[in-house]
Amino acid sequence: MMAPRIAPWVATVGLIVFASCGQGQPPAGRDPRTGIMLPVDARDGVMAEMRTMLGSVNALLIAQAKRDTAAMRQAALASGTAAAADPALEQLLPEAWLKLAMSTHGQFDELAQAVSRPGGRDSVTVRLAALTGNCVACHATYRLEVRQ
Ligand code: HEC
Repeated sequence: MMAPRIAPWVATVGLIVFASCGQGQPPAGRDPRTGIMLPVDARDGVMAEMRTMLGSVNALLIAQAKRDTAAMRQAALASGTAAAADPALEQLLPEAWLKLAMSTHGQFDELAQAVSRPGGRDSVTVRLAALTGNCVACHATYRLEVRQ
């Protein structure tokens, strides 16, 4: 006869834990990635750039399925070196980050050039596979925190 009494208690505690998990960043102790402290504007700038890159990957795949070379080039250039975030951010980010970031933007540029070459469209999947390896590697290494 214990079970019916315990169950609502367990459910209530579970609900409180679940609700509090959704607020703010995960505690640093549970996330083994290196935290990078940034002022809020810089963090927002980096995150906006991230969303642009995900948009490029998505737009590239859509354009590839339609075999639309112009749209593929446009999607890649949106995340190319010229579209990289504010150079002032460079002072706030570690060297290893900057290397991965420049490599990623550079690969978007190379992809944009490749699609214009004869047969170049066929290399897009292989290029995207290599390029998204950078996304995965960096996300596995770093997280961002806001410096108050
Ligand atoms: C040099 C490091 C680095 C590279 C390269 C990188 N990211 Fe990120 N990205 C991050 C970090 C750090 C975060 C924040 C993660 C956190 O704090 O939990 C992030 C967050 C994001 C977010 C969430 C944005 C938001 O507003 O919530 C998206 C989407 C994203 N990245 C997409 C990508 C894609 C797509 C690529 C590759 C084309 C990529 N990123 C490459 C470091 C990187």
